Amino acid sequence: MSVLQQIEGLKKEALGELENTGDAGQLEAWRVRHLGKKSRLNEVLRSLSSLPVEDRKTVGGAANRLKAELEESLANREEVLGKQHTASARVEQLDITLPGCRPPIGRLHPVTRVIGEMSRIFTSMGFQVVEGPEVEWDYYNFEALNIPKEHPARDTMATLWVDYENEKGERPMLMRTHTSPMQVRVMENAEPPLRVVVPGKVYRYEAIDATHIPMFHQIEGFAIDTNITMADLKGTLYEFAHRFFGRDRKARFRCDYFPFVEPGVEMSIECAVCKGSGCRLCGNSGWIEILGAGMIHPRVLERVNIDPQKFSGFAFGMGIERIPMLRYGIDDIRLFYGSDLRFLRQF
Ligand code: FA5
Repeated sequence: MSVLQQIEGLKKEALGELENTGDAGQLEAWRVRHLGKKSRLNEVLRSLSSLPVEDRKTVGGAANRLKAELEESLANREEVLGKQHTASARVEQLDITLPGCRPPIGRLHPVTRVIGEMSRIFTSMGFQVVEGPEVEWDYYNFEALNIPKEHPARDTMATLWVDYENEKGERPMLMRTHTSPMQVRVMENAEPPLRVVVPGKVYRYEAIDATHIPMFHQIEGFAIDTNITMADLKGTLYEFAHRFFGRDRKARFRCDYFPFVEPGVEMSIECAVCKGSGCRLCGNSGWIEILGAGMIHPRVLERVNIDPQKFSGFAFGMGIERIPMLRYGIDDIRLFYGSDLRFLRQF
């Protein structure tokens, strides 16, 4: 058999065996046998110098081509076996008997949930839910509510003004400081009898502490009809407090002043954290103020062409964040907007 025939035989044998290798150990044994120092191919290469000059070139070329082909085939086979190994390892790692992981599901923010619950209580008492703009005119936020320019009551609601100037050089646009402007907007567009609640965001430029934040929510409520009295106001708000906080929770009314109601009151609820004995949250008073209210001022009614001789109405404006604080004993309003999921997931 000529040397060239021997090389052809080596090729068939090596490639045939390579097909049957199944792991890294077998591959290494194949490499040693066919490409190692003691391999037959290496023997052929080493014996080139003993061949007649005219044969050296052809035999040397064929042997070196085979060496290159075997090295390339070895690399390909390593890659194929590597992929198979990774896939089977992955299958082995997958324990199909383990229980599945539940993907986290979002939920409504506690303030949104409370707005829903409060709205349901008021709708069950015959109130309609309405929403209004957060960017408001000075007219609705102040003027139409009996708070003209230079009125000291404007100072109680530090206002965020919108950077807009009208043709008279005035800046009449603002972020609403309360939901009361919606009293006027609704009364402009509808005739009494009216029973309406308006939940929404309000904005004030004021210092942050455990019970004050610059963006919070209020729910406005008002009823206008013939013969509405202070007793209707108190009855409605006591009923709300009893349903929301439970019958044994104390609530109290005290005189207060708002230019758009006469008489005006504030309602407070017994502090949930200290149960009335005094703590950081309630400023040691045992009570937390949740709303301002009163009988709608005749001048407000006149401005929207409702006859105060014929109709009367009550109105209230409640701070929403303070309501779940009182129910669950949450001692800092900032927790609602701190994005701490451990807190938010409790509700
Ligand atoms: C008003 O905003 C009046 N519009 C309420 C009103 C409506 C009176 C209708 C009469 C008739 P006041 O500024 O007190 O009133 O705010 C009402 C409630 O909002 C407060 O009782 C309190 O619960 C809440 N509140 C006020 N400021 C903040 C604040 N910075 N952060 C969180 N809650 C607040």
